Amino acid sequence: MENLVIIDSYLELKNNKVLPAKNPECCIISVISNKGGAGKTSIAITAGLCFAKELHKRTLLLEVDSSPGDFGAVFDIESEKSFELALRFPEKFGYYVKNIFKNLDVMKGVSDPLVAERIKETDVHRLFKFLTSEYDCIVIDTQTVINGTLLDVLRLSDVILLVSEHSLESFSRISSLFCILTEKFAISKDKIKVIINKKKLFKLFKIWDFAKIADFPVEAFISYDPRYDKSLFVFNKNKIFKTRLYKQLSKILSRLNGNQG
Ligand SMILES: Nc1ncnc2c1ncn2[C@@H]1O[C@H](COP(=O)(O)OP(=O)(O)OP(=O)(O)O)[C@@H](O)[C@H]1O
Ligand SMILES: [Mg+2]
Repeated sequence: MENLVIIDSYLELKNNKVLPAKNPECCIISVISNKGGAGKTSIAITAGLCFAKELHKRTLLLEVDSSPGDFGAVFDIESEKSFELALRFPEKFGYYVKNIFKNLDVMKGVSDPLVAERIKETDVHRLFKFLTSEYDCIVIDTQTVINGTLLDVLRLSDVILLVSEHSLESFSRISSLFCILTEKFAISKDKIKVIINKKKLFKLFKIWDFAKIADFPVEAFISYDPRYDKSLFVFNKNKIFKTRLYKQLSKILSRLNGNQG
C-alpha cells in the first residue's frame, strides 16, 4: 500500500505526457519582451540581486537566451558551465552554476540556437525538479524569439514580467506578445505583469490610455537611470544598489512577493 503513494508528488500529467513536477515552494519569475534592448537582462540580473539581498532568498539567475545571451561575458563564466550540460546531467546542476553574490548563483544559457532548438520539454522539467528543490527563487532572463524551451519555462513560471520600453511602438509590440502568449499558447493572463522600463519624465504620451485599450493593466514603471549600466556587475556591484532600477525593482518585487505569499 505504501509503495503506491510514492510517485504521486513527483509527477505531472500534461497532454498524456508524464513530466517531473517542480517544487511548488520555489518561485519562478521569467522576464520577457519581444523588443530587443527593452531591459530584460538588466531587470533579470537586478531582480536576482534584489531577491538574494533584500528578501534573503536563495536565488538562481538562469539564462534562457541563445541569441546568444550576455551572461558568459557579464559574469565571466567558462563555456562548459551552462544550461546545456545541466540539462544533460540535472542531478549534477551544482557543477554548472557560478556563485556571484551571497545567496545568488548564476547559470549561463545555451549559446548555439540550433542546440537550443533540440532541447526537450521532459529534460527542462527534470532539471527544474532539481533546481526548484535547491533554490527559493529562480529568475530567468529570456530571448525575444519564442521557441519551445521559452514556452516550457513560461508555463513553469509563477510570475512573468513582460517588459516594454517607454514608447508606444514598444508597448504595441508587447501587446501583441501578450495576445499570442495568452490566446495561442494558453499562458495564464494572471501571471503576466507588465513593466514599462526607462521611463523619461519629459515624455508625455498617454500610455495609460493605451493600456486601457490593450485591456491589461500596467504593473509598474521603472525610470530611465543614466547611472545604470549592465557593466556595473563586472566592475562595481555595490554601485548597483544605489541605482533607481535597483530601488524601484526591489519595491515591485516585494509587493509581488507579498501577493504570492
Ligand atoms: N532603467 C534603465 N535605465 C537606464 N539604462 C537601462 C535601464 N534598463 C536597461 N538599460 C540599458 O539598456 C540597454 C539594454 O538593456 P538590456 O541588455 O538589459 O536589454 P535586453 O532586453 O536584455 O536586450 P536584448 O534583447 O539584446 O537581450 C543596456 O545598455 C542597459 O544598461
Ligand atoms: Mg538580454
